[in-house]
Amino acid sequence: MSESREQWGSKIGLIFAMAGNAIGLGNFWRFPYQAASNGGGAFMIPYFAALIIIGIPIMLIEWNLGRYGGKYGHGTLAPMVYLQAREGVKPKTAAVLGAIAGMMAFAVTLLVNSYYLQIIGWTLGYSYLSVSGGYMDAAKSTGEVFVNYIQTPGLVFTFWIIALAMLGYTVMKGVQKGIETWAKIMMPILYIFGIVLAVRALTIGSPVNPDWSSMKGLSYIWNPDFSALSWKSAIAAAGQIFFTLSIGMGIICNYASYLQPDDDVVVSSFATISLNEFAEIILGGTAVIPIAYAFMGPDGVGAGVGLSFIALPNVFRAMGGGQFVGALWFLLLFFAGFTSAIAMYNYLVALLEEDLGITRVKGAMIMFFAYIAVGLPVGLEPVLTKTADLAYLTEVDNWVGSYLLIVLGLVEICVVAFLMGDKALEEINRGGIWQIPSWFFNVFHKFLTPISIAILLIFSTLDYIKAGYFRAVPSFVENSPILVPWVNGARVVIIVVLVAGFMQSYKSIKTKYAKELSENEVSIRVG
Ligand code: ALA
Repeated sequence: MSESREQWGSKIGLIFAMAGNAIGLGNFWRFPYQAASNGGGAFMIPYFAALIIIGIPIMLIEWNLGRYGGKYGHGTLAPMVYLQAREGVKPKTAAVLGAIAGMMAFAVTLLVNSYYLQIIGWTLGYSYLSVSGGYMDAAKSTGEVFVNYIQTPGLVFTFWIIALAMLGYTVMKGVQKGIETWAKIMMPILYIFGIVLAVRALTIGSPVNPDWSSMKGLSYIWNPDFSALSWKSAIAAAGQIFFTLSIGMGIICNYASYLQPDDDVVVSSFATISLNEFAEIILGGTAVIPIAYAFMGPDGVGAGVGLSFIALPNVFRAMGGGQFVGALWFLLLFFAGFTSAIAMYNYLVALLEEDLGITRVKGAMIMFFAYIAVGLPVGLEPVLTKTADLAYLTEVDNWVGSYLLIVLGLVEICVVAFLMGDKALEEINRGGIWQIPSWFFNVFHKFLTPISIAILLIFSTLDYIKAGYFRAVPSFVENSPILVPWVNGARVVIIVVLVAGFMQSYKSIKTKYAKELSENEVSIRVG
């Protein structure tokens, strides 16, 4: 079944591609503001707990789901989950579970990428503005520059389409020639840029105020602060683990499906996590937070989502060689985002190939236009409403980019740990350079991980209720009637995509496993 599927060309290429999949805007754009606005040292405690209790176990099961599915010729989540679920329940029930998982992966890869690609466009645009000095004029605040950027169609749409076209071209070239080749170029450059920025950050001293130094910025995030621990920071930390590791999205599974059946997944999972965490906490944490702290003090680092695009340009204005450092920073963001967006793009192209028999080249072109369609509201909202609240993006991110990942993680762990059960451990360890001991699987996969994710889901739901996200007019737009239709539009899009994703996923399983489903007995096995 797997002869016609593509394979990774080399181990190093695979590791770079997987690291590129995980390392993204989440590491350099999302992590610093999440850590800074959730108490710095207080955030890092639940962050490490979530990494160990949720991140590592889910990463292992996603590599396992992907490689196992790849053996049967699948690159998408619905049939992958079906195959492992049918070990514990009848095929008809397994098909429903597979379709639920497939539905969520479909929504994430289509809709998270719809705004992710916009932000990648901004990073490219800001790289250009860095080189051209576009935000260096002190007469205009960096906030005004940003608002002007997102409200200027010429800028927003040009860089977005360039980024999207580059992605489409890369995915079109295939797994080895496209994805792997670019990952081998972009990832080392990203690390070099990150190290240069981190060194610059740490040697900057106290340029503005003797009380603000980059070293103080470092201790802000590295001094564990148990007294400031809260559920809010714990939820934010666990959500960050999902986002940054690309788990609960289906895209790790898709990349793992291009492995050979006996390729190691254990060491590779740990390698992916280590490379991602190095980029996130060493480079993302060391480059961004200390630089921001040295120039803007403790209040500046809590600048929220605007940290990268509004706060840091202030720093680049004030520092020697600021245009150069600014260009390095925004290009780093671009490379990071690009190699993650490829994974989401490739997931949907794999789906078109697998389920509709559409060639990779045609599939990449179809997705190019599909991403334009779903990304258009994200780009148009600030232009048409002359606001900068990004309500459509916020609504899609709240539900699809944050909430759904946790739900999908829960479905995956339940299927793998309880339905595939101990066979899953055998699968994970197959061909493994290291072996996961059974105590680890019993303690984490069968107990701590599902319980923690379930608790996380309950608290996230309560948090959403409290924050007013369930209301007909959610809290973040209640004072801006002009934005309400954008939020409602986002909700309609999400529902339509979920329904389409479920139907598509169910059909995909039904077509491939028609006999099993009609007899409700497992009969197809690949050695
Ligand atoms: N894991 C990717 C990121 O961190 C999606 O941005």
